[in-house]
Amino acid sequence: MSSSAPRARGHWGSRLGFILAASGSAVGLGNIWKFPYITGEYGGGAFVLVYLGCVLLVGLPLMYAELIIGRRGGKDVLGAIRSVVARDEGFGGDLAALTGALAVASGFLILSFYSVVAGWAIHFLWVSLDLIPLSTDGAGATFAALAGDARLSALWHTVFMFLTMAVVVRGVHEGIERVCSRLMPALIGILILLLVYVAFSGGLAQSVSFLFRPDFSKLSGEAVLEALGHAFFTLSLGMGAMITYGSYLREDSFVLRDGVAVAILDTVIALLAGLVIFAVVFDRGAEPAAGPGLVFVTLPDLFATMPGGQLFGVAFFFLLIFAAWTSAISLLEVVVAYFIDEHGLSRTRATWLFGGAIWLLGLASAIWGPVLDFLDNLTTRFMLPIGGILIAIAAGYFMKRGDREAGFAGRPVLAMIWTVLIRFVSPVLVFAVILSKMGILRIA
Ligand code: TRP
Repeated sequence: MSSSAPRARGHWGSRLGFILAASGSAVGLGNIWKFPYITGEYGGGAFVLVYLGCVLLVGLPLMYAELIIGRRGGKDVLGAIRSVVARDEGFGGDLAALTGALAVASGFLILSFYSVVAGWAIHFLWVSLDLIPLSTDGAGATFAALAGDARLSALWHTVFMFLTMAVVVRGVHEGIERVCSRLMPALIGILILLLVYVAFSGGLAQSVSFLFRPDFSKLSGEAVLEALGHAFFTLSLGMGAMITYGSYLREDSFVLRDGVAVAILDTVIALLAGLVIFAVVFDRGAEPAAGPGLVFVTLPDLFATMPGGQLFGVAFFFLLIFAAWTSAISLLEVVVAYFIDEHGLSRTRATWLFGGAIWLLGLASAIWGPVLDFLDNLTTRFMLPIGGILIAIAAGYFMKRGDREAGFAGRPVLAMIWTVLIRFVSPVLVFAVILSKMGILRIA
């Protein structure tokens, strides 16, 4: 079909292909590494409930906003916003320029450190395969040695960036969609196998009650803010990833339904990953509130003593790598699409040139741990939330009503609810998160 009707820009081959690519973007280190450890730190069930509320109130409206801007605009993040804000001159144009610049910069910075963390997962896959021995002092020492070894971290980071560029360079349909259509089912399959394992090995009942029985006495204001910030990050919102992916949708696609499908898949996969991880943790009497080291320290130690633990570990790290890979692809695609659409570069050039630049920047995070932490905080606490507010404003106030509500065909009530959420609720809540992260606003 594409050969008989060549198009200047790529398009998704099928609706399922789009859903798998977009949920591949959403499901990432955020779901399998971060969600379980912050849930552990904030005490379980009550945090999960608040997080689900945030996905509904802020995540879904913004997801729809990004997809509809992308589909209507039919260009990269900057071009798409510019073409949907009705008044091109004046504030609308400035808003587009600002949001576009922030989005591309976010993609650049996030991918640079994301790739280093994904590289650690490759290292641990090698450890699970026994190709690299686990330190005799346990995974804590293995992890500390890895994070402290600039050359080793840089090596895995290089491998991971190469894998990411190799997919993006092949284009939307042939590269991104094809790879995500294989990796996402594999990821779900692995997750189900792990779930079956823990169903038999024990710990699952405790894990279920930890995740689903809310104890509101454990809920703090800080937990609420963390939940909101995470809802945002895990759905890949705030930097135009969904605008860019939405721009490859066809006019007749059903953005509302597809956006909901992506959010549901993302949430279900985070919950299943949490169930698996906490089942192992409880079964072995380990600590659920282990923090960022949960998957790189606590789990590998447990795998080492579990029956069938080696196989479990191999499967787990494949899961983590697949999840990170499909997310990294979307981060790079935002940057690449921008240089293709706005500066006329070929896809090949844009990918190797800017993928290479991101690789170079990532070396800083591989070498100096504090750089990684700094970039993580800068992007997830400030750049993404600010980007999210700007996108909400562009969609809620500057887009023509007909364009903005095009995805709600025949559902005026839903359209009205969305308009209220995107104009008032999302920007205010997200703004509150930014203020609190700056220490200006304190919630009990
Ligand atoms: N959603 C991914 C995760 O949960 C991270 C991610 C990928 C992302 N692309 C993004 C976050 C774009 C923000 C914006 O790990």
